[in-house]
Order: sequence, then structure tokens, then C-alpha cells
Amino acid sequence: MTAKTKIRQRADGTFEVERFTPFRRVEHLVVILTFVVLVLTGFPQKFFDYSWSAWLLKMFGGLDNARFIHRVSGLIFSFHLLAHIASIAIGTLSHKLSLSLLPTTRDFKDVFGTLRYYLEKNSTPPAYPKFDYRQKFEYIGIVLGGLVMVLTGLILLYPGIIAAILPGQFIAAAKVAHTSEAMLAFLVLAIWHVYGSHFSPEVFPMDTSIFTGYISKEELKHRHALEFARLFPDETK
Ligand code: HEM
Repeated sequence: MTAKTKIRQRADGTFEVERFTPFRRVEHLVVILTFVVLVLTGFPQKFFDYSWSAWLLKMFGGLDNARFIHRVSGLIFSFHLLAHIASIAIGTLSHKLSLSLLPTTRDFKDVFGTLRYYLEKNSTPPAYPKFDYRQKFEYIGIVLGGLVMVLTGLILLYPGIIAAILPGQFIAAAKVAHTSEAMLAFLVLAIWHVYGSHFSPEVFPMDTSIFTGYISKEELKHRHALEFARLFPDETK
């Protein structure tokens, strides 16, 4: 998302381009850690009558411990999400960031362009910018879904305060929303994200750029041709 992009030479003489700053890489690790802990401590509460739930709860030292860990990691997740949104807002207002993960009308056109390519109506896929429509939609989904989890999680965390201001149905509704969005988020990550970052033929067995921070120039040219053209206009026909 940075406006200034670092380019460096590898030991073998080829070049690579910075895709994620160290700060964003650490953020991704925090999301992995908190989300995995939230799933492992949340789902056994929802599916309490399954044997795997009993096993997981035992691993966390019992239901009370699992609930405590869920609440603490939920607060870390909430703080991180708000800090992330604040960092994007401040970075954008101070012109240090460009909103390269925000979907534009071009992304909707790219959906159809890609489908036409898969159906062999177009001979080439669309030229994608720094992030393609799949990555952008997933990011927006995580941020919006994360906000739902934080809002409903806080209602479940402080039901007494909420019941003093709002009708009690809000707490029941928050539980339904929390648990349904949890399932949706889990399925999106397990299917969409794992396919896009691991099993897609273009990146198999793994797109490592979110961990190393860099993508090779060749890969950038192949997978994000518009970003390549922006960074290397002299090398683009
Ligand atoms: C983002 C990932 C999250 C997932 C996958 C998740 C998942 C779940 C699930 C499946 C339940 C059980 C609901 C049921 O019994 O039907 C639950 C309960 C709960 N969650 Fe989350 N959750 C997440 C985030 C959060 C956050 C951010 C907070 C706090 C801000 C939070 C606080 C709670 C609370 C308080 C409960 C009720 C259980 C208790 O009282 O300990 N969760 N969560």
C-alpha cells in the first residue's frame, strides 16, 4: 500500500520489488495468530456437543480458560483492527499511502474479463494492478467482517452494559451474528484464501511475498502487469 516502492537486486542478479512493508508483514502474522486462536477457542463453544470440541477445550485447560483466552485474543484482534484502520486513514491523509487495496470500477470489469478468459472468449487475462480483484474483495471482506466480529464480540463481552441501554434482543442478535460471521470468515479463509495463496497454479505451493515482503520482477510482470508498467514504464511496450 506504500506510495514509494523499493526495488532491490538479488544475489543472482535478478530484481525484486517490495510488496509489503515490515509493518504490514507483522500485521499479517498478528492476524494469523489471533484468528487461529479465536477459531480454536470459539468453535468448541458453538459445537460443544462434538468430541473434537471436548478435546480442544481440554487442550486449552477447560471451558473457563478457553473463554478467557478467546476474550483476551478478541481484545487484541479488536485493538489491531482499529489500529489498522487508523494507520490507513492517517497514511492516506498524509499522502504516504495510496489505497491500492480499495476496489474500483475496474475490478468489477476485471471479474468479467477473467471469466471471459476462463471461458476462452478472451485470449489473455486482464492486466491486474498491484492487487487483483480477488485480493481486494478478500481484504475488504476481512475488514468489514472483522468490524462485525468486534462489535458483536464487545456486546457479548459486556452484556450487562448493553442491556442497560438497549433491548435484550440485541444480545441474542449479536450472538447469532457473531457465530454466523465466524463461520463465514472461517470458510472464506479456508477456501478462498488458501486457494489464492497456496493452491492456485500461479503461486503453488505458496505465495511467500507476505512473509518475505518482496515479489520477483518477473512474477510482478506476469501477475500484476499494470503495477509492473507503473514501476517500469521503459520496459513496457
Ligand atoms: C474474528 C474472529 C472470531 C471468531 C472466529 C470468533 C468465534 C466465536 C464463536 C464461534 C463463539 C461461540 C458462539 C456460540 O456459542 O454460538 C464466540 C463467542 C464469543 N466471542 Fe468470539 N470470535 C471472534 C472474534 C471475537 C472478538 C473480536 C471478540 C471480542 C471483542 C469476541 C468475543 C466473544 C465472546 C465474549 C463470546 C461469548 C463467549 C464468552 O462469553 O466467552 N470474539 N466467538
